Parts: sequence; C-alpha cells; structure tokens
Amino acid sequence: MSGPADAAAVAAEAAEAAEAADEPFLILGIETSCDETAAAVVANGSAVVSSVVSSQVDLHARFGGVVPEIASRAHVQVLNPVVAEVLVESGLDGREIDAVAATVGPGLVGALLVGMSAAKALALVWDVPFIGVNHMEGHLYASFLERPDIELPTVVLLVSGGHTMLVLMEGHGRYRMLGGTVDDAVGEAYDKVGRYLGLGYPGGPVIDRLAADGDPEAVKFPRPMLNEGLDFSFSGLKTAVVHYVRAHPDAAVPDVAASFQAAVVDTLVTKALRAARQTGAKGICIGGGVAANSALRATIATACEEAGLESFVPSREMCTDNAAMIAAAAWWRYRADGPTPLDAGAAPNLRLV
Ligand code: KG4
Ligand code: ZN
Repeated sequence: MSGPADAAAVAAEAAEAAEAADEPFLILGIETSCDETAAAVVANGSAVVSSVVSSQVDLHARFGGVVPEIASRAHVQVLNPVVAEVLVESGLDGREIDAVAATVGPGLVGALLVGMSAAKALALVWDVPFIGVNHMEGHLYASFLERPDIELPTVVLLVSGGHTMLVLMEGHGRYRMLGGTVDDAVGEAYDKVGRYLGLGYPGGPVIDRLAADGDPEAVKFPRPMLNEGLDFSFSGLKTAVVHYVRAHPDAAVPDVAASFQAAVVDTLVTKALRAARQTGAKGICIGGGVAANSALRATIATACEEAGLESFVPSREMCTDNAAMIAAAAWWRYRADGPTPLDAGAAPNLRLV
C-alpha cells in the first residue's frame, strides 16, 4: 500500500469491518478552533458516546471579543482535563479508541495548533490514525449526527461567528458552494450590534433573548441584497442599526433587537429557500452558532413546510461549537480520504470547497 487512494481504501475497509462485526468504530474528536475547548467520543459517525464542552466565553467577555493569545493559553490549560473527562464519561480506556480527529481549520492558528498537537500525540501513543477535520464540515455534519437519513441533495445554511454560507450537499463530502457573505458573517453582525447596544459578548444569545420581548416590526431595517442571488451582506444592516440608535437614543432595546433579528432571519430564510428552488434540493438543514437562534429555527421550519421541503434543525448544543460534530465529520472524511499525515499543519483560512 502506498498512495492516498490506498490509504482511503484501507480506512474504508477498517471502518466497514468494524461496522460489520457489530463493533463500533470509535473516534475521539477534539475542537479548539476558537473559544470552546471540546472533546467527544462518537461511534460510527452517528452515536455520541460522550461529549464535553468547556467555554472560555467569560475570559474574553471583558475584551468584547475573542483574544487569540488568551484563547490558545486557555486551550493548553484545559484540553487535557477535558479529554480525560470525556474518556471517563465514555467508560472507555484510551486504547479502545480507533482514531483521533481534530479541527485543522478554519480558525485561530494558535488555538488550532493546541488541539491538533494533542490529537496527533494521542494518535501516536495509541497507534491509531489521525484525522484532520474542517470546522465548517463539522457544523454541517451536526445535522447528520442527529438525523443520519437526511435526503440528498440538501441545501445547508451554515451561519457562525466567522462564516455565512449556502452549500449544496450532493453526497457525503461532495459540496457545491452556492453563496457566501461579501462582508461580515452573520454571527459577527450579531456580536457587533450586541457590543454597540452594550449587551456584552457574544451578542447573539442576548439579542435572541431580548428580541422575544420586542416588536420585530418596530423599525424597518434594510435587507441588503434580498432580491438578488444567493450571496449575503450584513455590514450595511449593522451600520443601519448604529445610525438608528444614534438618532433615537431612547428607542426600546428589545424593539431594536427584534427588528434587527427580523431583517437577519428574513434574509437568511429567503436565500435558503431560493437556493433550494434553484437547485431542486429535497430540503434545507442549518448549522453553526447562529442556527441556535430561536427566530431562525422557527421560521426556517415553517417556511420549508409551506414550500413542501424537508427541514432539519439540529439541537442547540449541536449548533454551537462542540467536538461531537468534529468526530462525526471525521468518520466520513476518514472513509473517503484515509488518515491525515502527522506533518499536516493548521490551516486558519481553510475552505470547504
Ligand atoms: O459556531 P460558533 O459557536 O463559533 C464559530 O465557529 O464562530 O458561533 C458563534 C456565533 C457568535 O457570533 C454568537 O453570537 C452566535 O454564534 N450565536 C447566536 C446565538 N447563539 C450563538 N446568534 C444568534 N442567536 C443565538 N441564539
Ligand atoms: Zn463554529
């Protein structure tokens, strides 16, 4: 055996043999791309054996955003205890693990290196393969982890702090990029608006909570590029919120939050439905931190039902960063490509397609 194709064939065989023997193929996943330190054990890409997420959000909150150096240092401090905890919770000995996966990008380079180095070291010690995973592919696989039988092709709307994209998933590992943001990511817009409104970091969950008590029609904020194509733009909307609040200092914050959120959700849902119509996809899944948003979750489900499309909305815990989604994506990656070489570096700007 020599080339990567052979490695993939061996990997697929090993995974299938484990499945056929009714023995689960156990992947330990590690996620450290941003400000969560997470580890999880997942069997056959579809059953979470154990999952631990340690959030650093309190460490970064007073700076109004993630500070890369603080993130890397905190990952170094908590990763070993998090891995130890996930193994204890799983009831497994490390030597029963069949492969170790870690996020290799996109993300903060120092933060990524902490998780990757730990994963490679464990893979060496246990003499099992290392699997490098794209963080956004992890967010995509959060849906398949909870609902393995989603019909393909499906449109996947990935919305996080760093990314906003519409992807057509034609098969496992086969993606077509349909659209993306031309400026800010949607989570970034939530966080910037939150900071401007004095709501702390991250802004998304607080705006979501406040919006429940506000009037979404109180302010008619712009919906940039709503009627054109499948790309997004959120920078103008964020600026419109700032201008409105400057001009109306007494505006009720819940009304501003609800109106901003209505503009975001309207744009995301309109474009996702357009993508499904244009591609003939069977349905729409969502993923990424912003997919935890109450209004987006409710609106996408209703809109899909009205349009005769399937929809899948993962549980909230599976939307925000976690390692179960990384281990699930790793299962499919491993079967397709085999192990990742141990000299692979971090890829802070890694693309999905
Ligand atoms: O996927 P994620 O956990 O980390 C990245 O990969 O970026 O996403 C974090 C983003 C942040 O911008 C946060 O404000 C946003 O997700 N977020 C939300 C909600 N929960 C998290 N945005 C809107 N509504 C929420 N409930
Ligand atoms: Zn993420």
